[in-house]
Amino acid sequence: MAGPLKISSTLECDVLIVGAGGAGLRVAAEVFARRPQSRVIAVTKVAHCQKSHTSTAQGGLSAVDPADSNDAPIYHMFDTWKGSDCSADQNVIQKIVEAGWEQVVWLENHGMHFSRDEKGRFAKRTFGGHTVRFGQGPAHRAVFEADRSGKGITDTGWGEALRGGADFLNQAVVTELILHQGRCLGAVLFLQKSGEFVRVAAQATVLCTGGSGQMFKVTTNCRQNTGDGLAVALKAGLPVMDPEAVQFHPTGIVGPGILASETLRTVGGILRNREGEPFMAGYAPKMREMAPRDLVARAIETEVRQGRGALNPDHGIEHVWLDLTHLPDSIHDQQIPEVTGFFKKFVNIDPKVDLCPVRPSVHYHMGGIPTNEHAEVCAGENTPIPGLYAVGECASASFQGFNRLGSNSLLELITMGQFAGERIAESLGGRPPELPAGDGQKTLEEFGGYLEASGDESVGKLRATLQETMTSQVGLFRNAEDMTSALQTLREISERSRRISLASRSLRLNQELLQRWELENLLMNSLALASAALERRESRGGHAREEYPQRSDEFNHHTLAWLE
Ligand code: FUM
Repeated sequence: MAGPLKISSTLECDVLIVGAGGAGLRVAAEVFARRPQSRVIAVTKVAHCQKSHTSTAQGGLSAVDPADSNDAPIYHMFDTWKGSDCSADQNVIQKIVEAGWEQVVWLENHGMHFSRDEKGRFAKRTFGGHTVRFGQGPAHRAVFEADRSGKGITDTGWGEALRGGADFLNQAVVTELILHQGRCLGAVLFLQKSGEFVRVAAQATVLCTGGSGQMFKVTTNCRQNTGDGLAVALKAGLPVMDPEAVQFHPTGIVGPGILASETLRTVGGILRNREGEPFMAGYAPKMREMAPRDLVARAIETEVRQGRGALNPDHGIEHVWLDLTHLPDSIHDQQIPEVTGFFKKFVNIDPKVDLCPVRPSVHYHMGGIPTNEHAEVCAGENTPIPGLYAVGECASASFQGFNRLGSNSLLELITMGQFAGERIAESLGGRPPELPAGDGQKTLEEFGGYLEASGDESVGKLRATLQETMTSQVGLFRNAEDMTSALQTLREISERSRRISLASRSLRLNQELLQRWELENLLMNSLALASAALERRESRGGHAREEYPQRSDEFNHHTLAWLE
């Protein structure tokens, strides 16, 4: 490290978007559509926005097609609320569901290659919990691009953001929000490639930093999903909402935990235990494999716990099987080519002839930075902070409640991105704000501390301990004893992290330094999650308490958690 840390420069823009995945790109596109001359800076933590986590989304985007006489928005609203285990906010559900099809048309008009049926219309598939006539039968309301729907959305948003003239800052992270007198004036960024810290003054700052699945050992989330947006909000004294609401996707590929899309069950895949028995009828007699995710994930975990799991010798992990061997080649080749490829590539299994090993994998965070239905970040009871927005998985307008239905996340990010862009465009005018001197000092102190610390601890080991702790003690089934122990371990990790000595003191492309910073973010997210989960003495959606197996009206409210 050459000399004391400093802020290298101050950039100015109209809109600063932190996180250039599906949500951030949709915000940018809407701002440009309404205010073509806007200066937009889009920041991505990864090397290119096409590497964002949205690109990995497989299954589809649910929206009610007005031309479908079997379906209706009210059915989709009902399913979403029921699926959320009665905890999503109904005004938000209505707004998003009613805007859904318009967004499908927007994507199509801007170049997304949706799959088609034999008549040339949008092909549609069903997902668990999506029904018509209030549960009377499955609803086919998810449009898709084979099993790479997220890639289609990212490419489409990227094209529009480029066309509008967004400036992309790749391999950069947000380290601090600049808040003054209740307003957000921008943020501090760390640019990994140059090793510089910069301040950005912006009329609007939008957090779209994605999920936090890296708190757990096995996750479908990308390596970059370390809950950075939530941590930056917590550090700024803002609350996070429902941090305990975590979704375990029933079918992660055993070993890497990579997503094996729900589509595999939609097209007829059957879950079998070690004896080859199809077991879902015992847990959800009517919906079986197509039951909501929380239920299917708990069913798989129960089979394993009760000794009916098969052991994977390579990973020492017990699991169940997903049987796709009876499906025709046309389904394998046209509807699920990507995920079939994952099984071949990562576990050397050919789903056309072999059973596929699967086990629940942390997939999605329903909780997040609280926003209203316009994506404005709220400090408390619907009190928006001017200039600050959050969209996508890092945000919670509470569309998903405590359990998200498959294909509702792409719907949320694309609609909320549009709402945010619309609201931001209305608010723009004049110049970016003046930043008071001294902003950014907290970041410099934080990074200075990481670089100067000495001791015998390592980032990798502490991160692994955190993930191990969260997986074994705050996982799919939770109880007070385990979570109390987890909180104790997290506090110890926090203490021990002060003795992490970095091998290199360089600021430029220092992965260990970035991981040190990520560890702090993971710790904050984990502490919020475990504390909130301990407080919620009921079971609801993805939050399953062993001592309190029922949902309780006493907890018919959101959790708000602040950093002490
Ligand atoms: O299973 C899947 O394809 C995932 C879809 C989703 O999480 O919405």
